[in-house]
Amino acid sequence: MAEYPNVFQPTFEELKSGFSIQGKWKPEVFKNDNPLVVELGCGKGEYSVGLAKKYPEKNFLGIDVKGARMWKGASDAVHECISNVAFLRTRIEFIEYCFANSEVDEIWITFPDPQIKKKRAKNRLTHPVFLERYSNILQDKGLIHLKTDSQFLHGYTLGIIEGHQHHLEDAEHDIYNAVLQRDNMEIKTHYEQLFLEKNMPITYLRFRLKS
Ligand SMILES: C[S@@+](CC[C@H](N)C(=O)[O-])C[C@H]1O[C@@H](n2cnc3c(N)ncnc32)[C@H](O)[C@@H]1O
Repeated sequence: MAEYPNVFQPTFEELKSGFSIQGKWKPEVFKNDNPLVVELGCGKGEYSVGLAKKYPEKNFLGIDVKGARMWKGASDAVHECISNVAFLRTRIEFIEYCFANSEVDEIWITFPDPQIKKKRAKNRLTHPVFLERYSNILQDKGLIHLKTDSQFLHGYTLGIIEGHQHHLEDAEHDIYNAVLQRDNMEIKTHYEQLFLEKNMPITYLRFRLKS
């Protein structure tokens, strides 16, 4: 992965001392000024790569702490010459070191661990502490999408959105059996495919953080 031009693996020390790409993802990495869409916990990166192919007019960045998983997406992108997708290996907790204020246009959170135990609540990727981090890097009224098999996390996040007066735009508890077709349903993540094989409903939320 160290040789891939589309993979960035800064150490925490590098991030803390001022990450050289912070604020420069669009001009320096993607060489354009197109919107930047970030996928949190991208795993093998199928979703970022799939979206990048579908939307060449946007930039996509998959973030995950596990290098062995993101290697798959990074390899596919290199071999298929997809230049509008890259990967950042880091912890989502460090996201504010990685991007400047308002540098990110959209966030996808795909099948995160729901962290059901109460004492793990702060590790949920839609906990208010995480949403605060996202609000610092997202442009004003930036979009957040959450796709999960977890009815628990779906309901928890709906409660957070309502309780904190964020703006809910769409909510569906079973997208593949819903009357209304959502965008991008043809692109599935690795975990999503596993859950669909078990006939588990996939939920979806789209919301904007309050200004
Ligand atoms: C259940 S997997 C889902 C992967 C992918 N989104 C999918 O749907 O196939 C959750 C992913 O989130 C990553 N992850 C969990 N907590 C993280 C954190 N704090 N920082 C970065 N990545 C994290 C894990 O390494 C894992 O790859």
